Amino acid sequence: MDSRPAQKVVIDLNNPTAAMHTYPFPNQRRRIRFIRPCVLALLGCLMLTRAFAQNSAAGTGAGADSLATNQVPTYLRDIQPIFMGNCSRCHNEQTRFVYNWLDYKTAYSDRWEIRRRVWDSWKGSYYKESMPIANSPESLALTDEERQVIRNWVDGGGLQGVAPVQGVAKSKTERIELGHKLFTSICAACHQPTGQGRPNVFPPLAGSDFLNADKNRAIKIVIFGRQGEVVVNGMKFNNNMPKFPLSDQDIANVLTYVYNSFGNAGLEVTPDEVKILRSQLPAPSATPPPKNIFE
Ligand code: HEC
Ligand code: HEC
Repeated sequence: MDSRPAQKVVIDLNNPTAAMHTYPFPNQRRRIRFIRPCVLALLGCLMLTRAFAQNSAAGTGAGADSLATNQVPTYLRDIQPIFMGNCSRCHNEQTRFVYNWLDYKTAYSDRWEIRRRVWDSWKGSYYKESMPIANSPESLALTDEERQVIRNWVDGGGLQGVAPVQGVAKSKTERIELGHKLFTSICAACHQPTGQGRPNVFPPLAGSDFLNADKNRAIKIVIFGRQGEVVVNGMKFNNNMPKFPLSDQDIANVLTYVYNSFGNAGLEVTPDEVKILRSQLPAPSATPPPKNIFE
């Protein structure tokens, strides 16, 4: 057995020839053997790029796929979902002293400050508080990829774009599939991918007695948001869930997903149900409506 310690390759930058001599394979043949795979890899890359270009020309690559291709992110497709999940608890319509980034105009005019707080602060090159505030549940949920998307959006001119068309679900199974995607990009930041929520901050959706007791009430919460005290599975919460700019289809899909996951009641929510409730009063009133005197 050779008991000598493994030899380290030290590269001396002041003396490049010395570095070459310590290289474990200093012979010429190796260089040629090395070039061939390189040329092959380059050819492979070129072919892949062509395939990609053809794909995007064919109109694929919307939504999350755009993160994989080199498209410039747009607000409605890429940024708003990130804001809904990671900023909306503090930045929403109801808060009076904190900006509402769910609104494109506001987000656009503040885009450079958003970039600084979300990208530069996290990279340690900005003196103000990073956003979302360190150690808040959202800051723990915000991924590096999301920060990069926000940066690219600002650098790319802060385009508004168009919201991705969510195909109309033709069956309950399809509804659940579409709802799952939406849940992951928006609701999971607070209610967690497992639906368990966070003690004292975000109530659970998993096996939630509150959710399963009243479907219409749950739909209204997602349409209008909710604030104040709520007791879920015996635990008290007193926080604020903002309303999100979601369509009737979106809300039907996401709630159907929730009802058919995490041990919940298996109900289906349709866009028509959402539409009807949207036209009604926001808060389910505690006192019953006055009796019709002619009854
Ligand atoms: C836990 C609550 C909270 C969350 C979550 C949060 N913010 Fe903030 N944000 C604040 C508060 C409070 C302020 C005002 C204090 C300050 O300027 O630091 C603020 C200020 C800002 C400012 C500076 C506004 C200005 O122009 O003066 C930006 C930009 C910002 N937030 C972006 C974001 C973005 C983007 C997210 C999501 C990725 C986010 N914030 C998430 C609480 C939050
Ligand atoms: C920014 C954090 C946040 C996001 C994102 C969020 N929620 Fe909530 N949600 C809350 C909070 C906080 C409450 C409790 C509000 C209160 O105290 O009145 C709540 C309550 C609920 C409730 C009623 C209580 C329960 O546990 O059964 C339902 C149903 C619900 N959310 C569904 C959703 C769905 C569906 C989504 C995604 C579209 C979503 N939420 C996104 C924070 C959030």
